[in-house]
Amino acid sequence: MPLRRCRGLSSLPSVSTPRIHRPRRRRRTAAFRRLVREHRLHPADLIQPLFVVHGEGVERPIPSMPGICHLSVDAALDREADRIVALGIGAVLVFGLPAAKDEIGSENFAEEGIVQQALRRLRARHPELLLVTDVCCCEYTSHGHCGVLREGVVDNDATLEILGRVAVTHARAGADIVAPSGMMDGMVAALRSALDASGFPDRAILSYAVKYASAYYGPFREAADSAPAFGDRRQYQMDPGNVREALIEASLDEAEGADLLMVKPALAYLDVVRAVRERTALPLVAYNVSGEYSMVKAASRLGWIDERRVVLESLAGMRRAGADIIISYHAKDVAAWLAEDEGE
Ligand code: PBG
Ligand code: ZN
Repeated sequence: MPLRRCRGLSSLPSVSTPRIHRPRRRRRTAAFRRLVREHRLHPADLIQPLFVVHGEGVERPIPSMPGICHLSVDAALDREADRIVALGIGAVLVFGLPAAKDEIGSENFAEEGIVQQALRRLRARHPELLLVTDVCCCEYTSHGHCGVLREGVVDNDATLEILGRVAVTHARAGADIVAPSGMMDGMVAALRSALDASGFPDRAILSYAVKYASAYYGPFREAADSAPAFGDRRQYQMDPGNVREALIEASLDEAEGADLLMVKPALAYLDVVRAVRERTALPLVAYNVSGEYSMVKAASRLGWIDERRVVLESLAGMRRAGADIIISYHAKDVAAWLAEDEGE
């Protein structure tokens, strides 16, 4: 800006016109970088997934997901929950592996089902910990699909009735938030009316509203033994090429009464997180899924990346894209790193 041309300034001593703008001034010290940081990670925004199994004293590492274990509902689960709470993480997402599977996934809505047992134990030990449950059929059905089948196809409306029953047993066992993940149309409305009719109008629904048919779920399907026995999930999960459709899914679930919305996976879909963020006022969750986790673990084991920096950078990207909350298998590690050092 040529200052000398401004009226009234002509009598001032001439100043050198700044030709180089210097954003680097704000990066000079760690304290300055910290001061101007736009997005932060905090343990309160993280949700740690857990896998519970039948048996006693089980703390069995999951081969496809280094650092994550199958846990039995006893001292093994207590120890893990204690660690999570001590790190300041406020919520867990519980997945269960049933003792037996059948056509409709009966253990899914059994009062003595593995998730129901885990919820009661967690609720008793940590009254303040938010308990979130995944509500879907694939871990429980003999065919591994996310709903009941009719002539080899997932029957959407028959599945809704089962999902409602599952959610009510979860609520009765202490769940604060139920999270339907099967991409059935009408699943949020079905859960809302089942919960309300059973005396749980106070329990929230986190909808896996925007869930893509993704190869990034590979390690999870090994961990949860939930791979479909035939076919794939493309008739119910979204096509990776679509983003406008995400807005349709998100607005339907919001209208049906979802309390929080999710986009899943996270890293390959940050544009989708941003697009949904701009159209809803609801809290938005990004799910940093199993494949994203396992790739980082594998590369860091090979010495090819710095795990800590890559994880913090990836999660920062999710926050920047507009996620308020992040579900991540790295949650415990992230909380520990944040406690050590608020970031360089
Ligand atoms: C169940 C469910 C899946 C995941 C969460 N809930 C698997 C799937 O849809 O196949 C994936 C989680 C992950 O990969 O971390 N429907
Ligand atoms: Zn499923």
